[in-house]
Amino acid sequence: MKKPPTILLTGGAGFIGSHTCAELLHHGYELIVVDNFANSTPRVFPRVERLTGRHIDAIYDVDIRDRHALSAVFDRHSVDAVVHFAARKAVGESMQLPVEYYDTNIGGTTSLLRAMQEHRVHRLVFSSSCSIYGDAGRGPLDETTPARPTNPYAASKWACEQVLADVCRRCPQFTVLCLRYFNPVGAHPSGLLGEVPRGTPGNLVPYVAQVADGRRDRLSVFGADYDTPDGTAIRDYLHVMDTAEAHRVALEHLADGPGMHVFNLGVGAGRTVLEVIAAFEAACGSPIPYQVVPRRPGDVTELVADPTAVERAWGWRATRGLADMCQDAWRFQQHNPHGYAGRAQQRAYQGATP
Ligand code: NAD
Ligand code: WQD
Repeated sequence: MKKPPTILLTGGAGFIGSHTCAELLHHGYELIVVDNFANSTPRVFPRVERLTGRHIDAIYDVDIRDRHALSAVFDRHSVDAVVHFAARKAVGESMQLPVEYYDTNIGGTTSLLRAMQEHRVHRLVFSSSCSIYGDAGRGPLDETTPARPTNPYAASKWACEQVLADVCRRCPQFTVLCLRYFNPVGAHPSGLLGEVPRGTPGNLVPYVAQVADGRRDRLSVFGADYDTPDGTAIRDYLHVMDTAEAHRVALEHLADGPGMHVFNLGVGAGRTVLEVIAAFEAACGSPIPYQVVPRRPGDVTELVADPTAVERAWGWRATRGLADMCQDAWRFQQHNPHGYAGRAQQRAYQGATP
């Protein structure tokens, strides 16, 4: 029988990485994870393994910028393809710490590419971001929309895309599938995996979840004077389970042909901040107190994907709606008010369907 492919995931302990680990294990892949746990915890892995009834082959506490340690990982395993999640990802923090962002995101990517080249691994799925489009105006954005990054985080992702395009030009055997995620939110429907922000959540859905469970008094809605139906900004929210599924489908298409291929990952429908609040209220059954405050610097009116390219290429599209995203995020919040630590973890394990 043919051996299942071995996939190395950088950042596999993180929000999207952990859900992707579960999706890939469920579909028979063998997994190697490299993560330095800068924004995550290894406590997520027993949950992933419990959910799927399978083991991750190896987990390395390694910083991807450490070329020697990374190379040693490739020495030990026969890797068929890499999914590269590891990065720093907070837009606001990137304004304060630009060097750290460029170092981790660009330096981490070049370090990974060196290790891949040394070990003749030529297949990569890369996590990019809709933030590279900047303030691109209204209406769905396709992949030909010019990149206009407006902060170091987005600039670092755009720089990585350019590095990857150059590598594909130079090395014709390389295949890179570059996925530009819009706004992944939600959690695994079991309540076992979800998003665990450190400190005060910077993103909308994790903040709303903490208001819903009483950890925070009220949400600040950043601006109600946008040119949108209710005055609040519009985004394309995508369920993290759809995001994870898209990576599994991407891996199935790495053999389609060499070169760099760029795809938006979004639903293709925009939702306002007030629509997200209403959907979360329906999910948790209680009102979410909020106040309107001035716009957040750097925010844009609208960011919505045109997702037709990925559907044309792979016959795949996101299927889960905003109600699912809010119900699943709320379930995870209820079961894990302190993230993956503490007594709540036991409660989540006992309460979950394996
Ligand atoms: P996350 O922070 O939850 O996961 C990133 C993981 O990478 C973490 O486990 C972290 O510990 C690890 N990591 C960071 N620096 C590392 C290093 N130097 N060496 C090894 N591991 C390191 O973030 P996420 O939301 O799961 O995002 C995953 C990827 O998707 C990132 O590349 C991010 O830029 C991209 N992305 C995320 C979103 C989003 O809204 N979540 C949107 C677009 C793109
Ligand atoms: C969504 C909407 C806020 C918090 C960022 C990155 C993007 C991607 C996802 C990484 C906006 C409003 C938010 C709050 C609010 N990440 N909001 N009150 O900014 O669209 O996207 O994260 O790649 O690249 O740019 O996501 O969840 O922060 O905000 O009113 O407390 O919610 O103004 O309109 P964003 P978000």
